[in-house]
Amino acid sequence: MTESPLTVAYLLAGVLFILSLGGLSAQETARRGNVLGITGMLLAMGVTAASPAVTGYPVLAGALGVGTLIGAVLAARVAMTSMPELVAVLHSFVGAAAVLVGISGYLAPPTELHGVARTIHDVETFLGVFIGAVTFTGSIVAFGKLRGTLASRPLLLPARHWANLGIVAGCVVVGAYFLRDQPPEAGLRPLLAMTALAGLLGIHLVMAIGGADMPVVVSMLNSYSGWAAASAGFMLGNDLLIITGALVGSSGLILSIIMCRAMNRSITNVIFGGFGAEAGAAPARAASAEQGEVVSVDAPGTATLMREARRIVIVPGYGMAVAQAQYPLWECARLLKAGGATVRFAIHPVAGRLPGHMNVLLAEAKVPYDIVLEMDEINEDFPETDVVLVIGANDIVNPGALDDPSSPIYGMPVLEVWKAKAVVVMKRSMASGYAGVDNPLFYGENTKMLFGDAKKNVDAILAALQQPAPAGERAAA
Ligand code: TAP
Repeated sequence: MTESPLTVAYLLAGVLFILSLGGLSAQETARRGNVLGITGMLLAMGVTAASPAVTGYPVLAGALGVGTLIGAVLAARVAMTSMPELVAVLHSFVGAAAVLVGISGYLAPPTELHGVARTIHDVETFLGVFIGAVTFTGSIVAFGKLRGTLASRPLLLPARHWANLGIVAGCVVVGAYFLRDQPPEAGLRPLLAMTALAGLLGIHLVMAIGGADMPVVVSMLNSYSGWAAASAGFMLGNDLLIITGALVGSSGLILSIIMCRAMNRSITNVIFGGFGAEAGAAPARAASAEQGEVVSVDAPGTATLMREARRIVIVPGYGMAVAQAQYPLWECARLLKAGGATVRFAIHPVAGRLPGHMNVLLAEAKVPYDIVLEMDEINEDFPETDVVLVIGANDIVNPGALDDPSSPIYGMPVLEVWKAKAVVVMKRSMASGYAGVDNPLFYGENTKMLFGDAKKNVDAILAALQQPAPAGERAAA
């Protein structure tokens, strides 16, 4: 394929990617968005393979074959709850690719470059490798933290911001050596030194971030991986890679800003690390007996409460995803709706383990979109709600986030479920959630705990709801 059809095809693929992002912004159009994105990617790969620059077909076919196989097996096997780990690993690949493209492009530039053109190319290479190395190591650390291989506690070294600044200053000094007029072999050493420094920076930045703040970090690394891809595009002179990288970089940044707002965090702190817990900060106030008694309820009791309620809100969290309780849950909601109750689902922006996690699960169970509301749309309605069913959620309904300054999640807006007339919390034990903090909600006067696996308990509630209401209950209704 010659240059101009290739350019047209790249433009078309770029348009498909933009339309894909547009589609992914709403649940109703997300499937179409996905199809458009896949079409754009197939087009981009097809025309690139057919371009005159590509000659090594056996190597390309081998790499594509092995890559596709590994990707397909991993994607098919990964549990929805482990998706953020997979995403973190994929980001690390983009970072590593940018580093490798940068170093090889420096050693063997596509064309002989001199003067200003050479300097511009070298600056592109240096920046591209820097972003790539930060993304690579940062994503590996994020993977370890999400998987639990590394402690999720933030590593808060003394003078950590000065350490970061020192590393960046070191990169600038090494960069000056790199840009000096010299043969490529001599520039390789400063380039590799900067790669090591940038890798260290990526490790330190993400190690300094803890627990509940990891979602923003993953989204920020998504943005970095986009910029790394865009810089690889500059190094390779590939327009489509520049467009795609910029789309991923900017959409990741927008998502990070939205998530920062939802969690009341500062984006600057995410970029420079070390937020989420300050050194020496007191641990969150321990929930104790003085906060009240824990009152438990069984599944039939919960069914009775729900049958008597007119306005019901269901709050799903990570535990619902683990238990895969969304299908019987929707059956329960349908029965209650058929009985005349208003049933709605409330979604916190960071419920579960990845953005939109709960929306995907509820969509799988065919819950209609119009009864699935975002936190801001429903928070004011809790005082008028008869029963809130919290299913496998913990941090996102923790009142300590609003009134306990010592809590690591203090300042994060939460679903204010305790304002409802009655709350039933379904979980297996009194254990804390992802952020590792106790939850005073469990001791609330109007809270009842329904202990056990969410799926088993929802099945039991469904069975109870399917029975005709006992005579006493019918009379009360
Ligand atoms: P969590 O605070 O993690 O609480 C989930 C609760 O589910 C746990 O306390 C657990 O209690 C319960 N659970 C687990 N398995 C269960 C099962 N089979 N049946 C019933 N209950 C079960 O979840 P959340 O409220 O959804 O909040 C999300 C947290 O994850 C936030 O801190 C957020 O910052 C973080 N995070 C979010 C993301 C994104 S982007 N959404 C990414 C990474 C981290 P038991 O053990 O007692 O059952």
